[in-house]
Amino acid sequence: MQRGVELGRFITFEGGEGSGKSTQAGILANRLARAGRPVFATREPGGSPAAEEIREALLSGKVWQFGPFAEAVMFSVARADHIDYAIREALQQGKWVVCDRFIDSTRAYQGATAGVPRSLISALERITVGALSPDITFILDIPAQEGLARAHERAEGTTPDRFEGQELMLHERVRRAFLDIAEEEPERCIVVDASQPEAMVAEDVWEAVLQRLNP
Ligand code: TYD
Repeated sequence: MQRGVELGRFITFEGGEGSGKSTQAGILANRLARAGRPVFATREPGGSPAAEEIREALLSGKVWQFGPFAEAVMFSVARADHIDYAIREALQQGKWVVCDRFIDSTRAYQGATAGVPRSLISALERITVGALSPDITFILDIPAQEGLARAHERAEGTTPDRFEGQELMLHERVRRAFLDIAEEEPERCIVVDASQPEAMVAEDVWEAVLQRLNP
């Protein structure tokens, strides 16, 4: 991907709850480091001091009271700071940036799922991200029911409760949104079957990195 003077590589992980993307991002970061590559592992929302503060406001639901557009704006403000004070410098130093969630989460959650018009999401992207496109985006795909069951187990050791129905619909929409993004941008996005065992998912990810970016 053409990014001017930036020399590093930029890899993002996306997916719904229970898709294991944070685990896979960690595995890839370790693997790259073992292969002797300098790595900057980061996440969104957050990744820089100011963006971590905005993360608090976003995840606590404080921003949600102002509606999905306000949320999209705040995720974007956090992203701009993350880029300006962490990602760009890491790339300029030749690092491999591995980021847990990025622009596609805003497209999927605030855009496709919460209904912020695509033109507004695109405008925010142009302002915050510009030409800084990831080299690879892994979309970790898992059926909503399976992902939710995993997430619930992890959260409290129980299986999904009576609210599952509503949650399930929402997660199915998020899943669909990520798959649509992958279809639209096949040169950037790679869909990985995240219902496989963790080690197999990690292999798929590593193979793709070897093939496309040759670390
Ligand atoms: P987090 O606790 O990091 O969980 P996860 O393991 O699912 O990443 O929560 C991040 C939440 O923020 C997650 O529910 C997705 C949401 N999100 C958005 O809605 N839009 C965005 O642009 C980003 C980056 C995250």
